[in-house]
Amino acid sequence: MRDFQLFSDQMKLRRSTRAFAPVPVDDELIKSALEIANNAPSGANLQPWFFSVISDPEVKKELRTQAELIEVDFYLRRAPLEWKEKLEVLKTNHKKEFLTQASHLIVVFSRNFVETAKGREKAYFPLESTGLASGFLLCALAQAGLHTLTYTPKPASFLNQICQRERTDHPFLIIVVGHACRDYLPPLIEKKSLEQVAEFR
Ligand SMILES: Cc1cc2nc3c(=O)[nH]c(=O)nc-3n(C[C@H](O)[C@H](O)[C@H](O)COP(=O)(O)O)c2cc1C
Repeated sequence: MRDFQLFSDQMKLRRSTRAFAPVPVDDELIKSALEIANNAPSGANLQPWFFSVISDPEVKKELRTQAELIEVDFYLRRAPLEWKEKLEVLKTNHKKEFLTQASHLIVVFSRNFVETAKGREKAYFPLESTGLASGFLLCALAQAGLHTLTYTPKPASFLNQICQRERTDHPFLIIVVGHACRDYLPPLIEKKSLEQVAEFR
């Protein structure tokens, strides 16, 4: 119970980070977190996910360049007014410095087809399963004392080319991982109360 209290306290402190210090994270720590994600439940236990882990500065730079091209189009042209209003509190814009500042970028793919002992088979509930694995990964990274941002450029198909994944692997999200800048303060946001999101019958 004491361990659970500690887990609960730590997870309540987790916040998305959008400014990272230039401090490298050991690949082994990322691997341990991925082992936890890979143990998430999945439809028919098919584990329809793939994690491309990027720490090469040149690859991060290329990913940022391509992402910012998409973001300029989003912020200047495609974003509906009400979406932009919601983003104001987060103070986000088309610049994505965190993509080159952070130690690792974990590009999470959701797979429609998986390799099994019988060959190539259709995956069941790939999005639900990949969402759960991503949640496990975020929890694991937080428990490892790391900071993260869930980042979702749209369209995201450029990630297939950067990570050299086939088209049946769908870019799901990017988990940006590292250590927050020393003076980083997350935006002031409110969370709904438990009464608003849960009921007991
Ligand atoms: C599916 C998903 C997509 C997200 N996409 C982005 C994104 O593209 N850019 C960004 O800055 N934050 C993104 N976020 C982070 C959310 O803005 C953040 O989780 C939310 O504001 C709550 O803040 P917190 O994580 O600090 O609790 C995303 C989060 C989720 C779960």
